[in-house]
Amino acid sequence: MPKVFNWHINREMEYPYEESRPDKQFAIIFNINRCIGCQTCTMACRNTWTFSPGQEYMWWNNVETKPYGGYPHNWDVKLLEKLGPQTWDGNTYAGETIFEKVPNDKRVLGHLPTEEDWAHPNIYEDTPAGDFVESTELPENSLWMFYLQRTCNHCTYPGCLAACPRKAIYKRKSDGVVLVDQSRCRGYRECVEACPYKKAMYRPTTRVTEKCIACYPRNDLDLGSRCVVACVGKIRMQGWLHSPDKSDPTNPIDYLVHESKVALPLYPQFGTEPNLYYIPPRWAPRDFLEQLFGPHVKKALAKYTDPDKKLFGLLRLFGTTETIISRFEVQDEVAIGFDRADRELVRVPLEEPMYIRSEYDQRHDVARLNEP
Ligand code: SF4
Ligand code: SF4
Ligand code: F3S
Repeated sequence: MPKVFNWHINREMEYPYEESRPDKQFAIIFNINRCIGCQTCTMACRNTWTFSPGQEYMWWNNVETKPYGGYPHNWDVKLLEKLGPQTWDGNTYAGETIFEKVPNDKRVLGHLPTEEDWAHPNIYEDTPAGDFVESTELPENSLWMFYLQRTCNHCTYPGCLAACPRKAIYKRKSDGVVLVDQSRCRGYRECVEACPYKKAMYRPTTRVTEKCIACYPRNDLDLGSRCVVACVGKIRMQGWLHSPDKSDPTNPIDYLVHESKVALPLYPQFGTEPNLYYIPPRWAPRDFLEQLFGPHVKKALAKYTDPDKKLFGLLRLFGTTETIISRFEVQDEVAIGFDRADRELVRVPLEEPMYIRSEYDQRHDVARLNEP
């Protein structure tokens, strides 16, 4: 089997196909700290792509409450148990990936969820773990939970693609988006079993598999994906990621992932080099976060809680424009986003201006505040 380099785990690993990175890679950054769990993203996706017969249990975007929630139920716990010990030697993953710990009759380690597992997309919503205490404070809260935003990761080494015996799944060279060729798919569901994130979904009415398409028709026009632009909490930043050796510090995604290193991949130990990145929640137990996001959690949180001006400005640009920001600048008092043609898209102040109203409104001859 070919050897490919996976920078998330800082080593070569086995994968059924040769390394073939796209010219640029679709990626989304999620700031978990800001998510309010409103599911607007989920409904934006649902109303765009998965509202038809046979798609009733198909949620390409979902937001689940960790640690107990998951769609499908226990998608990650089941795979973590099968994978065995997942130790890190510094930055290097010392365990096995889903392409290395493979059963004899399979191409990828995985599991097939039951119908019951798919049936409750927001099970354990808002259910916390830990103990209630009268007073709790950072760095870790005693009673805790957080929302985890999930779509297809448009992985660099997709499990779904590796597993399909029909070669019906492909990764676009132009943007790294992973798609199912519906005319080739015969519904074998090896992809459903092999996707570690459970984001390849079988549709019984058409007997083929479907999945998040990254809203590529929008991306082709430089517009953000539906789940990104609909986000009420402004927690998402979409763009194009380069590999670490080609990082461009003026590109918002490269800056968050490669330069400031505040955004981390979900379960890097699975080995697919996923392309969704998360700023971890400040209040959750570090050992839990390290299982989800790998060994760099503490450094990422230290940077996020004490950001330099450039990072602070970039965080202010999240959710400010429907068009994808290709380049950003942070000046004295303002952060500016530019489009692919380097035209200014948006500028936001680093400090929100504050206006103090006088208690008495002369124009309307009324007092606005209760006066003694
Ligand atoms: Fe395939 Fe799953 Fe990766 Fe999406 S998240 S590219 S469905 S392996
Ligand atoms: Fe749905 Fe588009 Fe978001 Fe994918 S990127 S989850 S298709 S809204
Ligand atoms: Fe292949 Fe999955 Fe279809 S394994 S044949 S893409 S159901």
